[in-house]
Parts: sequence; structure tokens; C-alpha cells
Amino acid sequence: MRKLLVAGGAGFIGSNFIRYVMRERPDTHVVNFDALTYAGNLENLADVAGDERYSFVHGNVADAEAVAGAMRGCDAVVNFAAESHVDRSIEDAADFMETNLRGAYNVLSAARDLGVERVLHISTDEVYGPATEENPRREDDPFKPRSPYAVSKAAGDMMCHAFAETYGLQVVVARPANNVGPYQYPEKAIPLFVTNALENQPLPVYGEGLQMRDRLYVEDNCRALLLLLERGEKGEAYNIQADNHRPNIEVARTILDLLDKPYSLIQFVEDRAGHDPCYYLDWTKLRALGWEPQYDFDAAMQATVRWYAENREWWQRIKSGDFRAYYDRQYGARLATARPYSA
Ligand code: NAD
Ligand code: TYD
Repeated sequence: MRKLLVAGGAGFIGSNFIRYVMRERPDTHVVNFDALTYAGNLENLADVAGDERYSFVHGNVADAEAVAGAMRGCDAVVNFAAESHVDRSIEDAADFMETNLRGAYNVLSAARDLGVERVLHISTDEVYGPATEENPRREDDPFKPRSPYAVSKAAGDMMCHAFAETYGLQVVVARPANNVGPYQYPEKAIPLFVTNALENQPLPVYGEGLQMRDRLYVEDNCRALLLLLERGEKGEAYNIQADNHRPNIEVARTILDLLDKPYSLIQFVEDRAGHDPCYYLDWTKLRALGWEPQYDFDAAMQATVRWYAENREWWQRIKSGDFRAYYDRQYGARLATARPYSA
């Protein structure tokens, strides 16, 4: 049996990935190493928690000893652990530097010292900064990150390259676009819009809603990540994108259409500082490994909206907890000065 350490496995993509790997690779034992920050939630893995091929270690990637202790005996590592929300990084990025750079360094150092065979590090399309469909970013293009979050991710990503070059570590970097799907913390745009719509609350669309994001279904992403863990080339980075780009205002309208709710729930609110207009990736390298996305925009949105509609308890528990204070801080003043929707 192979033993895989997943750091940050209790969050959105990590929990989907653990479930995916346990289904696709029945001989793999997964150790989930997670600090359980506000974004980490063991309920995301309730269905596999009793499986003898799964274990959980409560620990922080910023703690080098804890990382090495959990990694001992593992053949491979996937690092999802991160502070992941741009708006929180605008408020204060100290934890972002700690987790996204120091944490990445600790994971890489332990993997080198313990002779781990394979490391997959999860970076992001945001490291390149804004791009357009006419000029998509390739993996060897320069980084121009613009938010504190993106800078911290760029630093972790570059450290992987250093470990491949300097120590010969078998590390591969994935740079996915925006994911959608089950178990995404409702601070992110799509679960926030869907859950607000289900409660007949306003959908706070930043600016004019014209910024674009890809909408990569999380299961498509997980399939790409497992492929990269097993077949990516040492020291190489791979872009992951589904070509499902839509402006945020269209995403908000799609959600309201799917839930049969009025567009009057849309409120245009004060924009995010330094808001990146769009990311666009060239994913020829990943395609060459045989990957294609299976969910187009409509399929990804339908599956996502259905999941939140059918799993109210999961998000209602989150939204009635600490999330409330965050929401009031981010949106209180914004909603008080919002502009109503007009077609
Ligand atoms: P998330 O915020 O939902 O989950 C992050 C997880 O990491 C949580 O379980 C949290 O408890 C854990 N964590 C945070 N700090 C930690 C620490 N110091 N030590 C150990 N665990 C810690 O994030 P996500 O959306 O699942 O993103 C996963 C990864 O994918 C991140 O590296 C993110 O930068 C990257 N990414 C996300 C997206 C997206 O659309 N969500 C797109 C591209 C890249
Ligand atoms: P988000 O889900 O925060 O992901 P990211 O910033 O990493 O791309 O935001 C997705 C898009 O939605 C982005 O253009 C910002 C926008 N947005 C809103 O319009 N309103 C919101 O309340 C949030 C959280 C995001």
C-alpha cells in the first residue's frame, strides 16, 4: 500500500482530492495533515473518516517538526495547505506569508530530508497576474502577481523550483484556475452567491461585475492533480484550466436562473482593491498528458448549485458561526452603499 500525505486536506479542494484518490487508488493510505483554520472542516470528509485507509493529523505546516513527523513513512506528498482568500489577504497577509511560503518550505525540506519520492505542490493561475484569451500565460512566463495572496503563492511556487534544481527533489507544481463545486467555504464568490440566493439575501457583485474567471469543476481539477502527481515531470509546472470563463455578473445571473430567483437580488458593491480583471492559461502541457475537462460552464454550475441546495446544513452551520463577523466586516458598508441591479 502506498502512503500519501495530503497537507491542507480538510479544505475545499483537498477534501475533494482525498475522496477522489481513495476512490481511484484503492491501495493508497491517505494521511490528512491540516491545521483546521477557519477554512478547514473535518465534516468535509465525514464519509471517509471511518475508512482504515484514512488518518488525520492535526498540525500546522509552519511547524517544521510536526510536518516531518507526519511525513515519515510516506511515499508521496500533495500540498494544498494555504491561506486562500484574496479579500482576507488585503485585510492582513501575515498568515499568508507564514503558511504559503514558510509552510511550503517546510513541506519541501521534510520531503527532501526523508527521501519522499514525489511531491505535488498546488500553486495558482494568480501567480501570473492578469492575462487575456488572446495572450494566455504559459508555464515559463514571468510571474506578475498583484494581490498579497498571489505574491505569497508565487513565493511558494518558486521555492519548489529551487528544490528541484538545487536538491533534485521530485517536485511538480500545479497551477489551477478558479475551482467550483461541493465543500467550498462560502467566503468565495460562487458559494456565497448560491447560499445567499437560497436565503433570499443580496448577491454582492464587485464593481460592474465585468471581471472574468474560469470555472473549473473541482472533480476535473482532482483528475488533473492525480495525473500530475503520478506523471508530471520533475521541476515542471502545469497550468490547469477548463476554458469556462464568464464575467461575474453572468455567473450571478446563472445562479439566480438555476434557483428560479429574481435578478433584483444582485447588488453592485464597492470593488475589490487591485481586482485582477481576468486570468487566462495556455494548458497545452497538461493536454499532452491526456487530460481534458469533462464539465463545461453549464454542467459545472448545475452540479455546484444542486449540491449547495441539497446540503444546507453544511453551509448553514458555517454561516451562523464565525463567518458572520467576517461577512459584516467585508459587506456591511458595501451593501449600505450598493447600487441595485439594472439589466
Ligand atoms: P481552502 O481555504 O478551502 O483550504 C485550505 C486548507 O488548508 C484548510 O483545510 C486549512 O485548514 C488548511 N490550512 C491553512 N493553513 C494551514 C497551515 N498553516 N497548516 C496546515 N493546514 C493549513 O483552500 P482551497 O480552495 O481548497 O485551495 C487549496 C489550494 O489550492 C491552495 O493552495 C490554493 O492556493 C490553491 N488554489 C485554489 C483555487 C480555488 O479556486 N479554490 C484555485 C487555484 C489554486
Ligand atoms: P473569489 O471567489 O474570491 O476568487 P478569486 O478572487 O481567487 O478569483 O472571487 C471570484 C470573482 O468574484 C472575483 O472576480 C471577485 C468576485 N467577487 C465578487 O464579485 N463578489 C464577492 O463577494 C466575492 C467574494 C468575489
